[in-house]
Amino acid sequence: MDVIERVLISKEELDRQVEELGSRISKDYEGKELVIIGVLKGGFIFLADLARKITIPVDLDFISVSSYGDSSKSSGVVKIIKDVDTNISGKHVLIVEDIIDTGLTLNHLVELLKTRGPLSVKICAALDKPSRRKAEVHVEYKGIEIPDEFVIGYGLDYAGKYRNLPEVCILKKDVYSKK
Ligand code: IMP
Ligand code: MG
Repeated sequence: MDVIERVLISKEELDRQVEELGSRISKDYEGKELVIIGVLKGGFIFLADLARKITIPVDLDFISVSSYGDSSKSSGVVKIIKDVDTNISGKHVLIVEDIIDTGLTLNHLVELLKTRGPLSVKICAALDKPSRRKAEVHVEYKGIEIPDEFVIGYGLDYAGKYRNLPEVCILKKDVYSKK
């Protein structure tokens, strides 16, 4: 696609990372009641891959939040669009997200879910952009660290598009600087 500057993370690299995270999660939560909460929309592809590398029984649910409008800059505003249906009280919760950028979204989500009486709330993210952090978040299961570039693919969008690219790609700067 002509909006791609270059591929940053290949499918093979993503697969390897997902496999490793899946086996760690399976070990750590063995014998525990775990609810995995995927953050829509961005987390859907990573979660679909990760869930199939987890070898223990888990509940799966989704939450939909929005922190970005159609632009490539965070608004800092987090809005719950769809909440989970599962009662997480007395259970372990693992939030699965596509990327941690400023950390504002995850920070807000963790605080919200903690008010519902879970035994623990931890985070798993496919990608980490540590250079832009505004809120401190502890990510127990961290995927691949990336530089301060706007990326698309593997669930990540620009203005709602390109989530279906199988690799993580850098978006051409002139695509969003023209806006
Ligand atoms: P945070 O609250 O700034 O950590 O933002 C997290 C959310 O911003 C992610 O779930 C993504 O939807 C979005 N986001 C952050 N960086 C990128 C990027 O490089 N490409 C696409 N979406 C991004
Ligand atoms: Mg998102």
